[in-house]
Amino acid sequence: MKLLAISDLHVGFPDNRSAVASLGARPDDWLVLGGDLGETFEHVTFVLDTLAPRFRRLVWVPGNHELYVDPHAPPGEPRGAARYARYVELCRERGVLTPEDPYPVWEGEGGPHLVVPMFLLYDYTFRPDDVPAHEAVAWAAEHGIAAADEFLLDPAPFPSREAWCHARVAETEARLREAAPGLPKVLINHFPLRQDLVFLPRVPRFSPWCGTRKTTDWHLRFDARVVVQGHLHVRRTVHVDGVRFEEVSFGYPRERRDGRPIDAYVKQILPAPEAVP
Ligand SMILES: [Fe+2]
Ligand SMILES: [Fe+2]
Repeated sequence: MKLLAISDLHVGFPDNRSAVASLGARPDDWLVLGGDLGETFEHVTFVLDTLAPRFRRLVWVPGNHELYVDPHAPPGEPRGAARYARYVELCRERGVLTPEDPYPVWEGEGGPHLVVPMFLLYDYTFRPDDVPAHEAVAWAAEHGIAAADEFLLDPAPFPSREAWCHARVAETEARLREAAPGLPKVLINHFPLRQDLVFLPRVPRFSPWCGTRKTTDWHLRFDARVVVQGHLHVRRTVHVDGVRFEEVSFGYPRERRDGRPIDAYVKQILPAPEAVP
């Protein structure tokens, strides 16, 4: 039994949808879905209904895209925390683990680990020290960068995305302080936990929408062995303080020019893959 991960499936793109449909079954293994499966309830249920029968267990965390609301959506369309809650319901109806469930102990290859799906969002603090967080959006705009989140990600009932982020961080931190202190952790979050992991060579000023400085030391404080993240669409394995950070994005069709099947994008998290010499 292995722990596998992939994120940013973005099945609103037909190429990505058919790639997900083609993903090979690995019925002994768990698969982490690291957010940005798509923008609608239909997108997420498509992924869950397609993949749940092919894996022993699915683990889901939301990305920013799941929280987008089409500007032309009817007034009753769930927004913000209510939208997130609806996704959690859809997962639970299918036995898929979410950040709202008790953290399970991984008993497969690689030894016991606590598997910790999280939903933390961002608070605009990933920016240079001399740019105040409240000016981070203007700082990005100087280079023509404006995240769609500013228009599509409604934080209701919170007054702002950063307020929602801070509430999520406080709640998750309290849970982690109590969570199985003797067990190493696999921390899973759509957004990178550290600013130095935000590697966006083409759009460096996208960083304000990528995480919060409040989680900079969580890999040490909470005894992480591995941190799984997506959002950047830049697949990388990086070690910080001896902890492995895995960016596991599948990404948009235009970003994949290598022609490899989706199975090649499924990253093994546990057991630790052998280092390739
Ligand atoms: Fe994404
Ligand atoms: Fe994202």
